[in-house]
Amino acid sequence: MPEKLKIAVMASGRGSNFRSLALSCLEESFPAAISLLATDNPEAGALYIADEMGIETAVVDCGGRRGSMTPDSSSKLAELFRKRGIGLVCLAGFMRIVKGELMRIYSLRMLNIHPALLPSFKGLHGQRQALEYGVRYSGCTVHFVDEGIDTGPIIIQKVVPVLQEDTEETLSARILKEEHRAYPEAVRLFAENRLRIEGRRVFIENEKRRNSDAD
Ligand code: GAR
Repeated sequence: MPEKLKIAVMASGRGSNFRSLALSCLEESFPAAISLLATDNPEAGALYIADEMGIETAVVDCGGRRGSMTPDSSSKLAELFRKRGIGLVCLAGFMRIVKGELMRIYSLRMLNIHPALLPSFKGLHGQRQALEYGVRYSGCTVHFVDEGIDTGPIIIQKVVPVLQEDTEETLSARILKEEHRAYPEAVRLFAENRLRIEGRRVFIENEKRRNSDAD
């Protein structure tokens, strides 16, 4: 069996996407394994999940300014990942914009999950934005990370209906369920080397889609 791709997950909060990735990685046939959970938040729920699952953790102070990261912290994370031979970085609720050395070294080897159908509702509170805008459908997007905010080439999207009686919480819960399916699918495609980027478009080799998807 070929060696599994080594992943680092970066999460700032509760860590349910981290958990779903970690559970997929436990499957023998899954082509990737998580080597490290990195967080900017010493209180992150993701840390407890990592401990429970026996995954190494690193808490890195990324600086006081919310949403941004210092050059030092970026270099530190890049070094932690390089030392462990990390081939893919997965942002899973990491609430800072990745910049600096980490971005440079892992460009095209870093994915993010966003709780809306990009390019709509970028940034914070994608679910609330969708609800307030009044769209009938929303969902989630897994995409490559580039220098912008939620702007990189799109790999996978999953759609959910927005119901009349939805609150931010109920819509978020419906989207989250799809996030937990979408992220492992995208990581698998990356690890199997089946993604080819041309401009903004990501082509998936041997993609199996139902005809109804194209109707
Ligand atoms: C997820 O809904 C993820 O899509 C979102 O944060 C949540 C993290 O939940 N990410 C963003 O909004 C990034 N812009 P989790 O900690 O349970 O995985």
